Amino acid sequence: MGLDCRCYTYRIYDHIYFGPGSPFENMRIDCGLCVIREWQTRDAEELISAANNRKIWLNLQDRFPHPYTDADASSWFSHLQTTSEPSQWAIEVDGVAAGGIGVDLGEDIFVKTGHFGYWLGEHFWGRGIMSVAVRIASQYCLNQYNLERLEAPVFSWNPASMRVLEKAGFVREAVLHKSAYKDGQLIDQVLYTLLRQREIRLSGLE
Ligand SMILES: CC(C)(COP(=O)(O)OP(=O)(O)OC[C@H]1O[C@@H](n2cnc3c(N)ncnc32)[C@H](O)[C@@H]1OP(=O)(O)O)[C@@H](O)C(=O)NCCC(=O)NCCS
Repeated sequence: MGLDCRCYTYRIYDHIYFGPGSPFENMRIDCGLCVIREWQTRDAEELISAANNRKIWLNLQDRFPHPYTDADASSWFSHLQTTSEPSQWAIEVDGVAAGGIGVDLGEDIFVKTGHFGYWLGEHFWGRGIMSVAVRIASQYCLNQYNLERLEAPVFSWNPASMRVLEKAGFVREAVLHKSAYKDGQLIDQVLYTLLRQREIRLSGLE
């Protein structure tokens, strides 16, 4: 049975509707514990304050800078302005830009796959914020970009992130042995994925 994305999302998360006229249309999603919204240049100071943290850098690709400077924030906003449709957003907590979440869209034969990523300022950890943000943003990304698959590789030393993904419905698909070189160490990544079809089957809709 074929289902369009909106219907599928509506059925699984019956409190979430992503279509026209919904709060998702302008990408400002109130998740309860946080708001996912577009980055604004006035976020710069809060971005630097949250992002300039080695514990965050240690769990992300090296393209996320450390230390995180004024110039890095400027580069980030310039980069965002070059994208036709934003796919990276701020996570706002209590009116403050506290972290980031988004998807890098695949190209060529990977056009149906998105590389999903996120981070949160340490001050906000342990409050369930990323669990709700990942659950909602991942569904939004599948729908908004017509993706079949989201991939989230997690460094093997990051069980908190694995837990966040599992709670959002991602499945541990593989261990990518020695696939990342981070902080001078060759490490394994655990590949978590969220598949549109898998989700439909699991929910008994197909
Ligand atoms: C990983 C990160 C996103 C978690 O965000 P958060 O808002 O603190 O996460 P939540 O509070 O929603 O949930 C964390 C879960 O991990 C669990 N957890 C935390 N530390 C853990 C550990 N050492 N081992 C196992 N589980 C752990 C928590 O108990 C919680 O699960 P629960 O709700 O079942 O109790 C945040 O710490 C972060 O930004 N880290 C740096 C960047 C990063 O790792 N990004 C992801 C790259 S893949």
